[in-house]
Amino acid sequence: MAKPSFSCSACGASFTKWSGRCEGCGEWNTISQDAGLSVGPAKTSLGARRGRAVTLTDLASDETPPPRACSGIDELDRVLGGGLVPASAILVGGDPGIGKSTLLLQAVAAFARKGLKTLYVSGEEASAQVRMRARRLGLADAPVQLAAETNLRDILTTLEAEKPGLVIIDSIQTMWADNVDSAPGSVSQVRASAHELTTFAKRTGISVIMVGHVTKEGQIAGPRVVEHMVDTVLYFEGERGHQFRILRSVKNRFGAADEIGVFEMTGAGLSEVTNPSALFLSERGAPSPGSVVFAGIEGTRPVLVELQALVAPSPHSQPRRTVVGWDGGRLAMILAVLEARCGIPFAGLDVYLNVAGGLKISEPAADLAVAAALLSAREDRALPADTVIFGEISLSGALRPASQTENRLKEAQKLGFTSAIAPAGGKTGTLEGLAMTRPTDLVGFVGEFFGAG
Ligand code: TYD
Ligand code: MG
Repeated sequence: MAKPSFSCSACGASFTKWSGRCEGCGEWNTISQDAGLSVGPAKTSLGARRGRAVTLTDLASDETPPPRACSGIDELDRVLGGGLVPASAILVGGDPGIGKSTLLLQAVAAFARKGLKTLYVSGEEASAQVRMRARRLGLADAPVQLAAETNLRDILTTLEAEKPGLVIIDSIQTMWADNVDSAPGSVSQVRASAHELTTFAKRTGISVIMVGHVTKEGQIAGPRVVEHMVDTVLYFEGERGHQFRILRSVKNRFGAADEIGVFEMTGAGLSEVTNPSALFLSERGAPSPGSVVFAGIEGTRPVLVELQALVAPSPHSQPRRTVVGWDGGRLAMILAVLEARCGIPFAGLDVYLNVAGGLKISEPAADLAVAAALLSAREDRALPADTVIFGEISLSGALRPASQTENRLKEAQKLGFTSAIAPAGGKTGTLEGLAMTRPTDLVGFVGEFFGAG
């Protein structure tokens, strides 16, 4: 049973029992019993006990926001929303071995060279190993302080004393809070450590970047449990066999989500790719059936990328549908629309779809490009050379204009494309040197480029 609580209506003082005169202000008959602060069983509810009233302010204020720190690595600064915000907590997730430690070592060195006081805490590698890597990357002279430690209490104590501007925790799965009774890497340890680090960042003004390994199987204890706590969630993606790496913001309280930074893994670390379209299209050969160029938007930037499809008679009773870099459910939808609205069946055919270069596409504007690649592969007929294509397909078979049509077309012009296929509607801007085809529905598009189907 929760204890009743009493308070004075004149001065607000609270008491555990009623009396006729308030000891706080001396007024008579001002004390009454409080209604509970929350209802429910005493064990689980807040009960009757009052807290302190917090100070309230309004939205208008004349404080200028503290300046963001820039690393000078443009691809990173842009993904952060224009630099590092003081007191922010950032999670960088990715598969083991994809290059997270390399990226963050380069980033921390860049910030340090710009004058930010930085600390790199490695829970996975010995200091000597980190130093060796730094030397190989040509970063040995950067004024970065290094620690190999996993005990969270010791790390926070050190941070309190050192007061750096930025600290890297590599990785959150190796951190160990001694008040939590489970092994490092377990959900409760990861959650507790991330919570402590995040609140510490807010309280002290230190920016914290945490590395989180994504585990392929179910992502248990992976960065997912941390995502809601931090300000910014970045994922470092890429195919192991490819040299391209993409840093993508999936959540950002200080900038646009879905922004990407493109890097290339070289023998001397990660180097920036300032023109990703040129890179993604660099391996494209002569126009061939099944290959189309999609004009996409990643974050604020247009990116041209090649989609490849292969359609072949299936030896299996259940034909295969294999997708790399796009959504399998969305592929099933496009196949269904092609069959239902255009009468082009894919039953008995294996379908493979691949986004070249290891990019992962999630925009619906890729629908039309995918449909074109599938038809081109099925009919063994290439689309006209130097053509980009984009647009969203609805279940009715109608085509919808994509967002930022103008930016997509501009990028195509810049890279020397001479024609574009995009749904009618949407602002196009000047189209010098670009021949446009503007179908309104999928049937019209199929009729124009692949005969009646
Ligand atoms: P790493 O940063 O250790 O990955 P993570 O921290 O995400 O687990 O990078 C591992 C891979 O990167 C490793 O297989 C080798 C490659 N690599 C290079 O190709 N060039 C380099 O300069 C460095 C440092 C690493
Ligand atoms: Mg690592």
